[in-house]
Amino acid sequence: MSASGGQQGTDSRQNPQSAPQPEQPSDSHSEQPGVLRVGEAEADWTGDAQYFEYSRAANPIGAGITSQVPIRTFPAALHRGTATTVEVLDLSGDLNTPWPATSPALQAAFVVIQTGESLSTAARATSQLFYVLSGSGRSELDDQEIFWAEGDVIVVPMAASVLHSAQGRAVLYWVTDEPLMQYLGVAPISSRFSPTRFPADRIRHELDLIASDPRAMDRNRLSVLLGTAPQTQTLTITHVLWAMFGLLPTAAVQRPHRHQSVALDLIVQCEPGCFTLVGSTVNAEGEIERPTRVDWESGGAFVTPPGLWHAHYNESGSDAYLLPVQDAGLHTYLRSLDIRFVSPRSGR
Ligand SMILES: [Fe+2]
Repeated sequence: MSASGGQQGTDSRQNPQSAPQPEQPSDSHSEQPGVLRVGEAEADWTGDAQYFEYSRAANPIGAGITSQVPIRTFPAALHRGTATTVEVLDLSGDLNTPWPATSPALQAAFVVIQTGESLSTAARATSQLFYVLSGSGRSELDDQEIFWAEGDVIVVPMAASVLHSAQGRAVLYWVTDEPLMQYLGVAPISSRFSPTRFPADRIRHELDLIASDPRAMDRNRLSVLLGTAPQTQTLTITHVLWAMFGLLPTAAVQRPHRHQSVALDLIVQCEPGCFTLVGSTVNAEGEIERPTRVDWESGGAFVTPPGLWHAHYNESGSDAYLLPVQDAGLHTYLRSLDIRFVSPRSGR
C-alpha cells in the first residue's frame, strides 16, 4: 500500500536545478529525509501547482468533493462465523481512501479467535484498543503478556504486532488509528502511553458508583470515561482515542448531543427496542428534526458521523450497555471537538 500525496513521477527529463543523484528505488523519497524529487510535469517545480477561485474550493465537503462520513451499521453476524479471522468494518469506498477505514482517522474490526487458536494483529498505529466482547485469553506483544477476559478493555501503543490466543472462542472489538497514519504518510516513532488493561469488574464497579449517585438521573448519561495517566490534557484513553462504557437504563432517553469526533459505537448488550436517532438539526424543543433511526443489535456496531445530533432511547424493558470509541483524544488536543448538548430547559 503506497502513501498518498507524494510526487512519485518517473519523468526522465533533466532538472537543471538539481545535482545528479544516485539511482534510487521509485519510492525512496519517503525513506530519505531531505531528498526532494522533481514534480510530475515541469522541470521548474511548478507542475503540480494548482489555483482555485475561493468559492470553488473553500468547502470541499459541502461541494461533495470530500465525501461525508455515512451512518452505517455492522451486524453481529460478522463475528459469528467458524473461522479465526479479522472482519474489518470497512467504509473505504464511502470515504474514498485506498486503505481500509471505518472513519477518516480510525479503523474498527471484529477479531474472531476460535477455541484454542491464535491470531496475530498488526497495525501501523499510535493507538490500538481491544474490547473483549466475549471469551478469554492472552495477548503477547514484544516480550510482554496480557491476560484478558470478557468485558476487559486493553490499549496498546505502536506495537508492530500482537499475538492473541483464546482459551474459549473469543471475539475482540479492535480499533486503531492506522487510517490517520496512512493519510499523513507517517509511522509512529514513540509511545505516548504504556500498554494498559481496564478489567471488566473495575469498569462495572465504577459504573455502579455513578449509577447509584442520587444525582445520577440528572446527568445526561451514565457512563465511565476511560483514561490513561499520560493524557493529562485530554483525559482520554490514548492521545488519539476516546472510549466510554455506558449504561442506557430501561425507559431512558439520552437527550441529543453532537461532537466533531466520529463515534464507532459497539453495542455490548441490549434487547430489541433500543435505538439512536441521528440528524443534522434540533428544534426549539430540543428534539432532532427528520432523524435517521439506527436500531441497536447486541454485539453489533454502527458509525455516528461528526457534527450530527444524536440521542439514545431504550424502549426494550432491559438495561443496555454500549462502548463508543472515537477520535476525540485528537480532537480535544486540536481544540476542535466542539461537543454540545441540547439545553436542559428545552423540550420535555
Ligand atoms: Fe456522542
